[in-house]
Amino acid sequence: MDHSKSIIVLDFGGQYAHLIARRVRQCGVYSEIKDADTSAQELKNAAGIILSGGPQSVYDPNSPQGDPAIFDLGIPVLGICYGLQWMAKALGGEVAQGEVKEYGKAKLEMRNSKCEITSGLPEEFTVWMSHGDEAKVLPEGFEQIGTSDDCSNAFIANTSSNVYGVQFHPEVVHTQHGQEIIENFVKLCDATPWSIKSYTDHVSEYVKQEVGDRKVFILVSGGVDSTVAFVLLNTVLGPDRVQGLYIDTGMMRKDESKEIDTAFTKLGIKNLRIEDASEYFIKKLAQVYEPEEKRWIIGDAFLSIQKRVSEEMDLKMEDGWMLGQGTIYPDTIETGETKNADKIKTHHNRIEEIQKMMEEGLVVEPLRELYKDEVRALGEELGLPHDLVWRHPFPGPGLGVRILCAKEKSETRNPKLEIGVDYAALPIKSVGVQGDGRSYRHAVALFNDQKFANEECWNLATSIPNQSADFNRVLMCTSHESPPDFVFSPGYITKERAEVLRAADAIVNEEMRNAGLYETIWQFPVVLLPFGTSEGGLSVVLRPVESQEAMTASAVDLPKETVSVMTERLLSLDRIDSVFQDLTHKPPGTIEWE
Ligand code: XMP
Repeated sequence: MDHSKSIIVLDFGGQYAHLIARRVRQCGVYSEIKDADTSAQELKNAAGIILSGGPQSVYDPNSPQGDPAIFDLGIPVLGICYGLQWMAKALGGEVAQGEVKEYGKAKLEMRNSKCEITSGLPEEFTVWMSHGDEAKVLPEGFEQIGTSDDCSNAFIANTSSNVYGVQFHPEVVHTQHGQEIIENFVKLCDATPWSIKSYTDHVSEYVKQEVGDRKVFILVSGGVDSTVAFVLLNTVLGPDRVQGLYIDTGMMRKDESKEIDTAFTKLGIKNLRIEDASEYFIKKLAQVYEPEEKRWIIGDAFLSIQKRVSEEMDLKMEDGWMLGQGTIYPDTIETGETKNADKIKTHHNRIEEIQKMMEEGLVVEPLRELYKDEVRALGEELGLPHDLVWRHPFPGPGLGVRILCAKEKSETRNPKLEIGVDYAALPIKSVGVQGDGRSYRHAVALFNDQKFANEECWNLATSIPNQSADFNRVLMCTSHESPPDFVFSPGYITKERAEVLRAADAIVNEEMRNAGLYETIWQFPVVLLPFGTSEGGLSVVLRPVESQEAMTASAVDLPKETVSVMTERLLSLDRIDSVFQDLTHKPPGTIEWE
C-alpha cells in the first residue's frame, strides 16, 4: 500500500525495530520497517528515517550497512544505538569499544537542552542502554547534547541538518521520556497524519484493488486477526464474494467452535462454513516430535482441508477465487522476511506452498501492515463487539504448539548451576530467542517451600539463561517443595493428550477470569509437558505474559492465591501430577514453547 510521507525505520538487526515503528504510529504517523541497506533513492519521499539498533559492531565484516546518501536527502534522521554508531562512522566520526559495556539502566544528563528534540525533557532522567561500542569522535557539525556516566556521546545532534543520535533506547518502557523524544523527532518531520479511522478507508481501497473482480476464500481460526480480516473482506466486498472456512483441528480450546458459531450468527454473518477435521489433523501428527516439523504439518494440513472444501464448494481459482489470510505485520517479520531478522518459527501462514501462491498474486492479506492493537481498533471500527476483539491472542496451530512431544528424554550436557535454590534440569527442550537468533534449549525448574516465585527466583529467571548456554527457560514448580524424581512419558499429539490440555486450559482461563486478570494479562498459554512424577504422568506449565506486540514480552507475576488455586485444580485432573509457572521473559524465551 502506498503511504506518502511516512517515517521509515531501517532495520539494522535488533529486536526493537517493531517497537520503534509502533511508537511512531502512536504519535499519529504511519511507520514501516525496511532493510538497512534500502537505497536513498527509494527513501526520498519519506518524512523521516530512524536507524534501529542491532547486535553487531559497525566494524564486523558482515555488519549491516546503510546507504550514506540518505544524509543528503534533507530528511530528518534519528540513529538509535547501532544506528547512531553507523551514522557516526558514515559521516566521518569514529566508533570504538567503550571502556565498559553498558547494559540496563543509566542516568542521562542533558548538556544542551535547547534544541527541539529535547523539548520538554528534564535535566536528568533514566535511560536504558545495551551497548559495547560507542561514538568516540563525532562527525563535523555534531554536538553532544546528553551524556551518561559511561558514555559521553549518549545523545548527539546536528541541528542544522536535522540529524540526531541516541546511544540509549527511547523505544523501550524502561527509558523515561522515551516516547517524548520520539514525539519530538516526529514533529520535526513533515509527515502526513495517520489513524486507524483514516486507515480503514485506505485498507478498503487496497482490498478493492488487490481483489479486483475476484472472490476471496479465507480461513477463520476464531482468533482476533482472522476474524477482523474476514469481517473486513465481508464489509468491503460483500458476502457474495467472500467465503469463510473455520476448521476444527482437534486442537482448539474447550467450546471454541461453538462460541465462534454463536458469535458469527449473532453478527448475521452466514458465509462461514464449519468443518470438523480433527481426525485428519491428529492422524497427520502421529509420531511427529520436532517443533518445526509440527508447524509445517499443521500449516500443510490447513491447506489440504482448504483445498478439499474449495473443491467441494466449487470455488476454483479459474473462476476467480483467491486466498485471504489474517497475517499481521510482526508475523511477516518473525518468519524472517527482512534480511536482518533471523527465522525464529515458521508461522502457519508462511509455509512454502502459500509463499508460492503469494508470488503468483493469489493471496490477499489486508492486515499485513498492522500491529495487534491496531487490528483490534480496526475490528471495533468495523462494529465487532468489544469482547470478541479483546480476546487473548490464540495461535493458528492452536494447542498443537502447546503439547510438547518427545520420543526420548533429552539430557542437558551441563546441568550444574551455582545457585542457592533447589533446582532440577528438565528432560525437554523448548524454543527461545537469544541474541536475535533462535535457540532450542532445556528448561530448569526452581523449588522452594512456598511453592511460589520470590524475588530471588525472578532474578534467576534472568541470570540463568544469560550465564548458562544450556538453559533458555526458568520455571517455578508450584506443586512440589523439592525436586521429585521425574518419570518421562514419551509421546506425540494424540486425541487424549489434546483432551488433557483442553481441560487444563479451561481451568486456567476460568480461574484467570475469577481473579479479574483477563484484561490485564496479554496472553496466557498453558503447556503440556511429557513427564510427571509417576508412570504416565504429565505436567502443566502456566505461561502468563504481558506484551505489546509479542516481539518482546514479560512473564507476569501472578497473585499467590491464584497460583495455588490453579495448581490445586490442575492436579485434580487425570494424569497431571506436577505444575509449573514459566518465569522467562522474551527474550530469552518465546511466548509459545514451540
Ligand atoms: P512466540 O512464541 O513466537 O509467539 O513468542 C508470538 C505470538 O505469536 C503467536 N504465534 C502464532 N500465531 N500462527 C499464529 O497465528 C502461528 O503459527 C503462531 N506461532 C506463534 C503466539 O501465540 C504469540 O502471541
